[in-house]
Amino acid sequence: MFEEVLFKNRRPDRPATLDEYRQSGGYEALIEAVKQRTPDEVRQLVTDSGLRGRGGAGFPTGRKWGFIPADAGFPRYVVPNTDEMEPGTFKDRVLVNIDPHLVIEGIILSGYAVRAQTGFFFIRPSYELDAQLIEREVEVARQAGFLGNNILGSEFSFELVVHRSAGRYICGEATAQVNAIQGNRAHPMKDRHMASDGLWHRPTIVNNAETLACVPHILRQGAEWFKGLARTKTGAGTKLYCVSGKVNQPGCYELPIGTPLREIIEGSAGGMMPGSELKAVMPGGASTAYMPAKYYDVEMDFDPLKAVGHRLGTAAIMVFDQNTCLVAATLNLMEYFARESCGYCTPCREGLPYIRDLLWRIEAGEGREEFIPMLQQMARHMDSSYCAFAPGAAESVLGLLKYFLDEIREHISQKKCPFAEAYRPHRKLWYPAE
Ligand SMILES: Cc1cc2nc3c(=O)[nH]c(=O)nc-3n(C[C@H](O)[C@H](O)[C@H](O)COP(=O)(O)O)c2cc1C
Ligand code: SF4
Repeated sequence: MFEEVLFKNRRPDRPATLDEYRQSGGYEALIEAVKQRTPDEVRQLVTDSGLRGRGGAGFPTGRKWGFIPADAGFPRYVVPNTDEMEPGTFKDRVLVNIDPHLVIEGIILSGYAVRAQTGFFFIRPSYELDAQLIEREVEVARQAGFLGNNILGSEFSFELVVHRSAGRYICGEATAQVNAIQGNRAHPMKDRHMASDGLWHRPTIVNNAETLACVPHILRQGAEWFKGLARTKTGAGTKLYCVSGKVNQPGCYELPIGTPLREIIEGSAGGMMPGSELKAVMPGGASTAYMPAKYYDVEMDFDPLKAVGHRLGTAAIMVFDQNTCLVAATLNLMEYFARESCGYCTPCREGLPYIRDLLWRIEAGEGREEFIPMLQQMARHMDSSYCAFAPGAAESVLGLLKYFLDEIREHISQKKCPFAEAYRPHRKLWYPAE
């Protein structure tokens, strides 16, 4: 029987308090680290554990921390990323509400590992109550001596500031986040090496909140224990899977990383809704391509998904059934992505509204066969954009074209949406129909 790790202090009605967190071993990792481990030892342990970032890209966490040059100066910063604007993704919010001190301890430990002095807890404005919760618990941690100057009598000092985002999807991208925190226009900066040239041109490490919550457990129970939690040979740890759509029990579930999709849907999520058959999922949020039902048994981990041409992303599994129009679903997403484009580069700023309008016309029964190669070309063009936002936005379109071309063609030949519940956004097209 699998025992939850990140969710082990879950209570039905409220977040765990500092005392409850401490009774479960909380802050022991920090106490041991500042007294008995060097920052390099902490980083090495995290490297050995095989922890990969949970924010979407899956980059090895210890390796990222090691990018800070040995001779880099001070101050240094860490940025716990709880922006979480990827549609379908709500795990960081759930985590913060279950065990705020687990996240806070993870942040402090990451600060210790990279010798940072300040952390900016970056959170989206619609998570205002969660921001207030973290602010309150940060103060509790400070009163207990886990934050502030000379933590637990050591030479390590660390402050944590809660920073509310201005509320755009791009603010979650690490380099755009630097601009956002500094009060600049939040466009990405791909030429900046964050480990030496981040916030105010100082060394800066951005990590997802779930990633950081794994760190206290790794320090307490070891790298091998963490690796052993995974269901896959190359995986490590547990994973928070957000399941939404046509299932009986949508929710956020902690399971060993690599748990097969079938087990997640039929087990934790209570199976498909009555009358629903699985048609496709988005395995990792709105920036990942539709994955058809033939992959029902794939292990939900970075490498197995990559092996079948898909991505784990944020592990937000969106479930679609036979009655869901995927043209409409993709149009819905394109409405979002076109609106959230930061406008900094042309392919994304101009291309996403164009894709959106082609889909709108197909869904409205105005589609033509030549729209298909146009969609293909426009979606592929997103690779020439400046940051990862646009290629991510295009993934659903490419997945639709790859696996559900017949569904697009049915819209075109029938001159209407073949599904009963067609999606009709109340909005004018940018490009009027001739
Ligand atoms: C458009 C865009 C939005 C992103 N939003 C988030 C986010 O809300 N939270 C997050 O942790 N990472 C987000 N990322 C990924 C971050 O750039 C970064 O890779 C991540 O925070 C690093 O943390 P990790 O290594 O722990 O995964 C986003 C990336 C892109 C391209
Ligand atoms: S791809 Fe989109 S979000 Fe990224 S820089 Fe270009 S316009 Fe901005």
